[in-house]
Amino acid sequence: MLPSFEKRVMTLDERRSTALAASTKTGGSRLVVDYRNAMAEAVGTKDGVTSAQLDSIAPKIAAEHERIVEEHAAGEQRWMDLPDNSDLADSISEFAGGVRAKYSDFILIGIGGSSLGAIATIQALVNPFRNLLPASERKGPRFFVLDNPDPEKVRATLDLVDLPNTLINVVSKSGQTAETAANFLVVLETLKAAVGEKQARTQIVATTDEKSGLLRQLSDQEGYVTFPVPDGVDGRQTVLSAVGMIPAAICGVDIHQLLAGAAAMRERCSTPDLRANPAYLLAALAYLSDTEHGKSMLVTMPYADALFGICDWFRQLWAESLGKRLAVTGEEIFAGQTPIKALGAIDQHSQIQLYVEGPNDKLVSIIRTGAYREKVTISEPPASIPDFAYLKQAELGQLLDREAVATAWALTQAKRPNLTITTPVIDAFAIGEFFFLYELQTVMAGALYGVNPFGQPGVEAGKNATYALMGREGYEALQSELLASEEASPYVVGVKQ
Ligand code: PA5
Repeated sequence: MLPSFEKRVMTLDERRSTALAASTKTGGSRLVVDYRNAMAEAVGTKDGVTSAQLDSIAPKIAAEHERIVEEHAAGEQRWMDLPDNSDLADSISEFAGGVRAKYSDFILIGIGGSSLGAIATIQALVNPFRNLLPASERKGPRFFVLDNPDPEKVRATLDLVDLPNTLINVVSKSGQTAETAANFLVVLETLKAAVGEKQARTQIVATTDEKSGLLRQLSDQEGYVTFPVPDGVDGRQTVLSAVGMIPAAICGVDIHQLLAGAAAMRERCSTPDLRANPAYLLAALAYLSDTEHGKSMLVTMPYADALFGICDWFRQLWAESLGKRLAVTGEEIFAGQTPIKALGAIDQHSQIQLYVEGPNDKLVSIIRTGAYREKVTISEPPASIPDFAYLKQAELGQLLDREAVATAWALTQAKRPNLTITTPVIDAFAIGEFFFLYELQTVMAGALYGVNPFGQPGVEAGKNATYALMGREGYEALQSELLASEEASPYVVGVKQ
């Protein structure tokens, strides 16, 4: 029988202490970046970055590092302070302890930066079937997310949860995102019908801006418990604030370790030296691979199901931060590198054919773990099938990890640049490291592309069109324009129902 999840977590903690003790050289950060296969020596000068290119970009990176440090000292780049928020983590842990003892179900309502970080953290650190465990083993409520306003999922969730025992965490920085507002209004009405208006108020926690926005207004009016979304931080950088930490703590994640990992990575990335700073190195490799070697796509491919949520979170971070029409100079440049998510080994049976033999337009970033949290030995194959003998007594994790090595080799053989990031274990500390690493990598990549990595002006057009199509006041002209474009066209085939 497999050991219980609690036992696995304990084992994990022990492994983490050992790994931490061995990592004093890097100030606690334990991630290893192996980028030899992204270099020209491995895949040739056409497809690989050269040492000379890294050398020539190093002064620019050092200068941008100084700018970021100065901006931070002047009160900007506030996302960099989030790892220091241990007071907030204390109060969230206390709050989460109460929730864990009291509720059977917990629904997070939020979208984009207001849910992806929490999902990534929980997927990485919590039993994948936690919701199916008996309450005594789960030690806290089941976890549901309503991000898309998909009526089928919303209805199915509301039919499943025990509403009188459900805590709702509505998360919105702006407080006015249509999908979040709509889902929340549906849930609120159903909750009120189940428990009455007064009781419903006590089952809602809002994470939103401290002063402004419609959700703030509603929360003040109704007296909801609230937690702040920090000022001066974009939604996609809020994972280490109440936005990501409340759901994570309620699901049993050690949020102090999450912050400690992020702080350790920040410490490691405090040097302007490109080759010693993993965030700057990854930014430089991605940027040079794109602009000098035609790698317009960046694939993130972990070999652990637990890390797949990080790909979704990173995909938003990279896409919304770098995909910009205008440079900071005002020039039209249409910058960005398309982030793609893949999961090893599943995508070896899906996308890898394309990566190895299709257009050579990708940099592949593989993520490995030194130790899976479960040890499952492959059983003795039948003697009648000798070709299965190579699996004998191996572990599943060994197979999966060797497939990561095999994929890196196959890509390199085909002159496809790739790099590998390895974490010794998957724990809260490591996940905190990944979050900070990728956030700083993205900010530095923005500097290299010459774009502002903050804000997302390209998202606004679609948001405004949604408001117009839903009949929001003030959007009448846009509504007429959109409805006109729906009229009969020779370029539509099939009969609209
Ligand atoms: O990164 C961002 O800022 C966005 O993805 C937002 O997080 C997303 O649009 C949700 O916004 P809000 O938190 O205001 O509801």
